[in-house]
Amino acid sequence: MNKPAKQALEPLASRDLFPTPPSFAARARINRSTWAAQRLDDAARDPLAYWEAAADALEWRTRWHQVLEWSAPRSKWFLGGTLNATESCLDRHARSWRRTKAALIWEGEPGEVRTLTYGQLHDDVCRFAGVLRALGLVSGDRAAIYLPLVPEAVVAMLACARLGVIHGVVFGGFSAEALCSRINDASCKVVITADGGARKGQVVRLKDTVDQALANGACPSVTSVVVLRRTGHEVSMTPGRDRWWHELVRDAQPVREAVAVDAEHPLFILYTSGTTGKPKGVVHSTGGYLTGVARTMRWVFDLKDEDVFWCSADVGWVTGHSYVVYGPLANGATVFLYEGAPTYPGPDRFWEMIARHRISILYTAPTAIRTFMRLGDHHPQRHDLSSLRLLGSVGEPINPEAWRWYHQAVGGGRCPVVDTWWQTETGAIMASPLPGLTAQKPGSCTKPLPGVEMDVVRQDGSRCADDEQGFLVIKRPWPSMMRTVWGDDERFRQTYWVQVKDPATGAPWYFTGDGARRDQDGYLWVIGRVDDVVNVSGHRLGTAEVESALVSHLAVAEAAVVGRPDELKGQGIVAFVTLKDGRPPSEALVEELKRQVASEIGSFARPDDIRWANALPKTRSGKIMRRLLRELATTGRVTGDTTSLEDFGAIAALRPAED
Ligand code: WTA
Repeated sequence: MNKPAKQALEPLASRDLFPTPPSFAARARINRSTWAAQRLDDAARDPLAYWEAAADALEWRTRWHQVLEWSAPRSKWFLGGTLNATESCLDRHARSWRRTKAALIWEGEPGEVRTLTYGQLHDDVCRFAGVLRALGLVSGDRAAIYLPLVPEAVVAMLACARLGVIHGVVFGGFSAEALCSRINDASCKVVITADGGARKGQVVRLKDTVDQALANGACPSVTSVVVLRRTGHEVSMTPGRDRWWHELVRDAQPVREAVAVDAEHPLFILYTSGTTGKPKGVVHSTGGYLTGVARTMRWVFDLKDEDVFWCSADVGWVTGHSYVVYGPLANGATVFLYEGAPTYPGPDRFWEMIARHRISILYTAPTAIRTFMRLGDHHPQRHDLSSLRLLGSVGEPINPEAWRWYHQAVGGGRCPVVDTWWQTETGAIMASPLPGLTAQKPGSCTKPLPGVEMDVVRQDGSRCADDEQGFLVIKRPWPSMMRTVWGDDERFRQTYWVQVKDPATGAPWYFTGDGARRDQDGYLWVIGRVDDVVNVSGHRLGTAEVESALVSHLAVAEAAVVGRPDELKGQGIVAFVTLKDGRPPSEALVEELKRQVASEIGSFARPDDIRWANALPKTRSGKIMRRLLRELATTGRVTGDTTSLEDFGAIAALRPAED
């Protein structure tokens, strides 16, 4: 655990208060006068009763007999309860007036639009569940989903859930190697993919990547590949293994009766980066996860039936799982989905779509907001954005300047901004304003939500003073917490549950990996990761993963990767590389190494800079002095100057005890 870094994109001095406009507050689900707001204190006193009431909003087959069994780090929620996630997300809406309400409004990058009502989505899911059942999948099996952001991605996830099959969605930007290792880690039987997806006017050839991943028996657990026709370009189909989606659904026997599972049954596995080279399979439960996302969706986004909600994340990330699929659908919301790049074919694609689809809630990432800010106010101003009533931000700290721009240029000053802090591991939003109640401060995710006990503490667990930087911890279990790392309970414990303890009782607290401060009003200011995880454009990456991709190149002896602040992406990646004897540095090698990382992980992980070093600075015990490298990457001279070698030998000799 490193000391929280002192840097931030902008000094967090901003203490401006933005109270919610009275007209918004008056109509909000949670405001000063609603019953729920008056019950917030009760939630702090009795969080289990609070979560029980939240779980009541789902459709259960059998009610639980016990809310929580907690023996750190193992938690079980809603014991004895059984349910199927799709009954809460689909069946109950398809039975109601929402049968004809739009569940999904999808726009492809080339511009086509498709709307699926709750009735249609329900039918599609039942039918595709029939396909999966016919392919031999049963409750507890795993299926990998590697699709562009098309309605079928949602259908595939829910069809798995309908059978109790555990889905593992892999973001379409991941490479064949990354896909292969995820399929193998979870022993997936089926891979659901498409010929390709549309991105920046090009075709992303997903099926080719799947073929590469599965080549030469590299994924022995896979028996079938289902291929959706999206782009229509030619792909190779392996007989006996690969089948077309549209042919399979034609003959499918719809699964009308969903498979009821235990509340603790895993709903999905989602891989996320940590501090080692191997991504962790974060396992989420069915009952607890759905409780957390359904409640936060309703309260944080003040969701109403007439809203058109757009979370711009891909379903390959946790934000897409929780706030494109499960949270909104559990609430019967209308979700907008967009397949492509945010600025394609022009810089105002987002604003044009918001105006055309009358989107009322926009949830996006600071990296996108900063990009739009740089492109200029005139783009949002050219469009009628009056349908917007609430804005959200997620994925990394939002710098106050970007927050104010979002609030003013996009929200016209009338929309509250919910800066939501959470993680793949937490499943649902943990800290955020309740928009009808909480005054916002640009750059702060404000306060923990009801039922969540979070704080900023020192390494010994004692509480930090106001404005003192420390570690962000969560002190009590919550229903949507991850249950384990797939196949590795010990890694789960070591990663999150050994760093910080309650000094009074010795009980472990959940360590988030983030550094933060709490101000005198109790508002949280998250600084960023304090471990070796970087956050590039809101995408988490372990520096060790990038390092291991680099050292797999024949010319590389050693590599150390650090993050440095980046105005647009939040953080950029700098790699310090030492070459094997006799291997000269060159521009061509810089490019080759960047390509190597792109092919092992995905192009979003491509380093911004490769810097040659004759040796890496190390402590006497051989640990790389990362703090020194971070400093150097942040302040030092950069870019592909292949002639200069960092002489770390000298620096290391001068500062032997660092890190
Ligand atoms: C960071 C994304 C500041 C944080 C949902 C966290 C944030 C990591 C915020 C999780 C926010 C996310 N303010 N930092 N509002 N939201 N983060 O797992 O460092 O992709 O630990 O989940 O993103 O990233 P993940």
